[in-house]
Amino acid sequence: MMALERATYPQVDPGAAALMHRALAPCPGRATVRDALRLLRRRRLRLLVARERNLAGVLLPGDLSRARALGLGGRPARDVARWGSPVVAARASEVAVRRHLLEGAPAVLVREGRRILGAVEPSIAAVGPPAISLLPRLERLLPRATLDLLRRIGASAEALGARAYAVGGFVRDLLLGRQAAELDIAVEGDALALARRLAGEWGGSLVIHRTFGTATLEGGVGPRLDIATTRRERYGTPGCLPEVFPASIEDDLVRRDFSVNALAVVLAPRGFGDLLDPCRGASDLARRRLRILHPLSFVEDPTRIFRAVRYQSRLGLTLDRGSRRGVRLAIELALYPALSGQRLRAELELIVAPPEGPLSLIALGRLGAFKILDAEYRFSLLAARRLEDLGRLRDWLRRHAIASDALPLGLLALLGSSPPAIAQRCLKRLALSGEPLTRLTAALRDGPAFALRLARERTAPASVRASLMRGRHLERLAGAWLAGGAAARGQVEWFLVEGRTAQALLGGDDLLALGAARGPRMRELLDRLRDCRLDGLTTTREEELALARQWIAPAARAQAAP
Ligand code: CTP
Repeated sequence: MMALERATYPQVDPGAAALMHRALAPCPGRATVRDALRLLRRRRLRLLVARERNLAGVLLPGDLSRARALGLGGRPARDVARWGSPVVAARASEVAVRRHLLEGAPAVLVREGRRILGAVEPSIAAVGPPAISLLPRLERLLPRATLDLLRRIGASAEALGARAYAVGGFVRDLLLGRQAAELDIAVEGDALALARRLAGEWGGSLVIHRTFGTATLEGGVGPRLDIATTRRERYGTPGCLPEVFPASIEDDLVRRDFSVNALAVVLAPRGFGDLLDPCRGASDLARRRLRILHPLSFVEDPTRIFRAVRYQSRLGLTLDRGSRRGVRLAIELALYPALSGQRLRAELELIVAPPEGPLSLIALGRLGAFKILDAEYRFSLLAARRLEDLGRLRDWLRRHAIASDALPLGLLALLGSSPPAIAQRCLKRLALSGEPLTRLTAALRDGPAFALRLARERTAPASVRASLMRGRHLERLAGAWLAGGAAARGQVEWFLVEGRTAQALLGGDDLLALGAARGPRMRELLDRLRDCRLDGLTTTREEELALARQWIAPAARAQAAP
């Protein structure tokens, strides 16, 4: 290990220059990941610096090694730069440098004139986040029972020689002043033993996922608990499920998707309520900033792009500049054969379900994220318009208490304007099969023609219009609504609130009393009565009785005849 060369400055607050090391060099413009790693090793450097107009980026050995491990050794090294690294003058105060590091900068570059002299890194400047206890917040926001539960988890873990932490969304939501529905527990030690012990104490149903070393405890005391051993991860291929290895809580936090999720609260009796925030997630949360923890985060796990958009919509967070570059890189590197369709579909389901779902799909489309579904998918203006319309359709369905599945409708809007072959490949990429695939395929294929037909028949008798739509699944109707203009939409809406539910005023018993026989003929009579009612030919029971008598009498006579 080389000794770090430190500059000395003859001042009381020597400033940035006194904290910096000089073990850096510019990254050659055309260097690949492999070249950059070679350069770092040969010259025993700690980092390389890339410049782009008024932006500086640092290339760290860990990020470059990660890229090589993912098979990206031949990519431009600049792809894995951490862009937007702060640059300060050599005389900048130590306080200013530390502030940048506390805000999550991987390094602060120090310049004289335009020349970069050195860099200050968190490890060298010994910058750790200030110790914060969330105990007052836990006491204020959580019901007493949940707080007791957390204490008991911490104590039970300790009795097993382990340390437990509340992690992820639970802590993030706590900092946002919200209460999460689920509680993720990370355990330094045997998570499954802790899960069994808690289940023994509290009851509830325990499900153990042995392959992942995780457990879920539900229906006992308090919220649903997900319990996992703290781990680090290694991705062998972009998009694959990672290999996991037991590790410390710090390693477990830095492997996560975003700084705002890389948070933990100590549950051990000693230090109960202390916040662990190695990636400065609390500071990002305060700034409403969504930041990945390394430039290849989205490449390793492209579902994180979908998660990012979900957090943007749900929590009002905004991806920072480096993370936006990370998204672009991951999309450029699509496809991801190692990423399963089920995982992709699960993420899409989560995105599209809430009311803002259609807008989230538009955001994903504009990012180009659906290239992950199919290399030839293009997000068009028409697709964006259909998704906006889908928002209106879903509002309308909600107002009329008509239940619908969010994902199929979302896919209809997203894929309705794509060439059928591309749409079909996207559906298959999402591992859709069987009835759901057949239905969506039909809705996409027939949507425009069906919409035209509905528009053409808009002046036909109501019974005719209803017969066009009756028996069709909501997805087929939604397909026509999305593909059609005002006339077709009006027809679909009319059918869903009126046409679909219209019935004869008479029932089967009335027809039996008039001498009708049971069976298909009875159904036919009731349908004819309904159609007369739909067409306004009858409005009262008496009118229906009169009609039914006319229809039944000759038939009954005919049957009675020898
Ligand atoms: N996580 C991750 N990468 C993913 C999925 C999850 O790093 N692709 C991590 C995140 O740190 C996340 C945690 O695993 O906080 C648990 O995931 P999940 O339960 O999906 O998220 P929550 O933290 O519960 O947050 P929310 O459900 O509110 O989104």
